[in-house]
Amino acid sequence: MLKYILNDQIIDQDKAFVHVSDLALLRGYGVFDFFRLVGLKPLYFNDHIERFFNSADTLRLKCPVGRKRLKSLILEIIEANQIEHSGIRIVLTGGESTTGYSIGEPTLFVINESINPLPEYHFTQGIKLITHEYLRELPDVKSINYLMGIYKLPEIKEKGALDLLFHWGGKISEVTRSNFFIIDPNDKIVTAGEGVLRGVNRKHVISMARENFNVEERDMFVHELKNAEEAFITGTTKKVMPVYQIDDLVIGDGKPGPITSKLQKLYDDYIDAYIKQQPE
Ligand SMILES: Cc1ncc(COP(=O)(O)O)c(C=O)c1O
Repeated sequence: MLKYILNDQIIDQDKAFVHVSDLALLRGYGVFDFFRLVGLKPLYFNDHIERFFNSADTLRLKCPVGRKRLKSLILEIIEANQIEHSGIRIVLTGGESTTGYSIGEPTLFVINESINPLPEYHFTQGIKLITHEYLRELPDVKSINYLMGIYKLPEIKEKGALDLLFHWGGKISEVTRSNFFIIDPNDKIVTAGEGVLRGVNRKHVISMARENFNVEERDMFVHELKNAEEAFITGTTKKVMPVYQIDDLVIGDGKPGPITSKLQKLYDDYIDAYIKQQPE
């Protein structure tokens, strides 16, 4: 039986429940974070723990355990479950609410789940996105609310796309579950500076890319897409994933461009090097 975490305890998977009066269920109020294991080693453990506590603070949710205890419980379930290349999902709910609207005592749970590998051709040929005008509320918060992305899944599928690219007031922000980058005609790598989730992979890809390329974090406009030579997304399972089409617009020559391909290779090496440095 898999081991999960519920509040400050390790429990069997079949004992992991939250109450029906939890604000996460009633109003979609809660935060989470998600990272993957390479082998059994957490990838960017501290980054994800920090972002999780920042999201919780912003939503005024008090986690029943502190950072140190949470990390040690997580390491314990990883060791107990032995699921290589899996994911760790940390969730903090709004808690059982007496009024159906007020914050209760938050429930913490942590799940260790298998990750279905994405098809290899997404990495080698790239993906299509469709644009959608939408503003994520409190974009710095990794909220459990993915209403628009899930609602739009049938349309995304029908159009042969993988996901939505959000824009608002002419500015591009991010993809439902990834950050978005273009390579502009001057070979600059550009990504939105504000109004997006601070993706952990965004951060590491930017710092890695800065060793070889110019990277700009700034407002990015919808009208810039037509001049983009390349585009890609970053995320925990996507790493660096090329984008070959956005709506009817083919990016570059419709194949992953040279800079994106180089970043993909560099980032795989970067992750390997990072993991090698982590304790056994
Ligand atoms: C809205 C949003 N933006 C960006 C990302 C990418 O973040 P990370 O690189 O930490 O996976 C995610 C991840 O789920 C997300 O939900």
